Amino acid sequence: MICENITVNEKGNLCFAGMDVTKLAAKYGTPLYLMDENRIRQRIRTYKNALTKALGEEAKVLYASKAASFCQMYRICKEEGIGVDVVSLGELYTAIKAGFNPAEAYFHSNNKTDEDIDFAIEKGIGYFVVDNEEELFVIDKIAGEKGKRQNILLRITPGIDPHTYEAVATGKVDSKFGSAIETGQAEQITKTALGLKNINLCGFHTHIGSQMFDSEVFFDGAKIMLEFISHIKNSLGYTAKELDLGGGYGVRYTENDPTIDIAANIEAVGKYIRNKCNELGLEVPSIRMEPGRSIVADAGMTIYTVGTVKRIPGYKNYVSVDGGMSDNPRFALYGSEYTIYIANKMNDKGQTFNCSVVGRCCESGDIIQENVTLPSSVCRGDIAAVLTTGAYNYSMASNYNRIARPPVVMLNNGEDYVAVKRESLEDIIRNDI
Ligand code: LLP
Repeated sequence: MICENITVNEKGNLCFAGMDVTKLAAKYGTPLYLMDENRIRQRIRTYKNALTKALGEEAKVLYASKAASFCQMYRICKEEGIGVDVVSLGELYTAIKAGFNPAEAYFHSNNKTDEDIDFAIEKGIGYFVVDNEEELFVIDKIAGEKGKRQNILLRITPGIDPHTYEAVATGKVDSKFGSAIETGQAEQITKTALGLKNINLCGFHTHIGSQMFDSEVFFDGAKIMLEFISHIKNSLGYTAKELDLGGGYGVRYTENDPTIDIAANIEAVGKYIRNKCNELGLEVPSIRMEPGRSIVADAGMTIYTVGTVKRIPGYKNYVSVDGGMSDNPRFALYGSEYTIYIANKMNDKGQTFNCSVVGRCCESGDIIQENVTLPSSVCRGDIAAVLTTGAYNYSMASNYNRIARPPVVMLNNGEDYVAVKRESLEDIIRNDI
């Protein structure tokens, strides 16, 4: 199995976090998102412990809440004592409503509106991660009007190709994010920030890309950023106190994806950073990391009921489920790979049916996965489970075709509870006049 929280019980049913998936489907209905709370906490602790061990108590984990944003996630982050990364008023508002202290939140985005900035400063946001000069001036102005001096990090584009898929690569010079070192804009914005009265420049941020397994990329990112810090120290006499290295490591969607030892990787990055600082004559800055995917991805699973099974002789087969790109747009967007099981037929030996697992949305691109092998007995009423859907599935879900979003049910030591309710038909028309 691709993750240790996935097992099969004596009835031949798939279990997630030790609980029979078919029973949960019967209790809550489908489609259904399941989340394994212990796995989330375990992953947070892995990052937190490894980071503080490698780089001291000053080092901090920020959960990139775009991966899965709802009140219970922010409560978990609060209880685990980590910060969060938010990218919109919606995420910040959810965090605040959940009782999360906004002073522990970092506000990203390449285009913060005046309203975003005003609201966030009013609520006492910890930091803005500032993308560009235009935004810097607005923050300075609004902070000034409110009589505040705002903490910021500057988002720097290091000019690295992360070898991941294009839509999630962000470190290249031509990226829409940040200010590039190569073009001189990174130094320029630093100079500007240092000259603004209501801005407290705390350091720099970089994010190279998502779903990365290559630890070299993290070394490269750290190297370029520490050299930049050293350059700025010499050219502007400013020493950055904080360095945020962006998102976390990749996750296993299928058996073909590598397993990654996060703690060992962080230890190696920590060692690299300490050596590099030594070489450059720098004090080690307080390091931040912002994992999203690797905190929640394999803590999630989506459960569907199988509907139409269509065989087109000589061509292909389809297994349709009662959700689709409305709850999981990742195959349509990125061609993402997934592992799919028929949860009530785990011991069925006839795993020979090659098919595309598709949704119920009204378009051909509504595919969850192609080239899937399922039991040839697969039929209407079976329960299908798509693994590793905890990251960027619920958070990217839509009401396309006016399909209601599934609920999120959390599993915790044999208990299950609703963290997000199923949308009703009334919810669908809530804002219609
Ligand atoms: N920090 C920043 C500034 C980011 O842009 C991201 C992800 C993260 C942290 C978290 O990275 P992670 O640990 O999750 O790799 N919707 C896409 C993923 C977009 C990622 C955007 N930024 C997907 O479904 O694969």
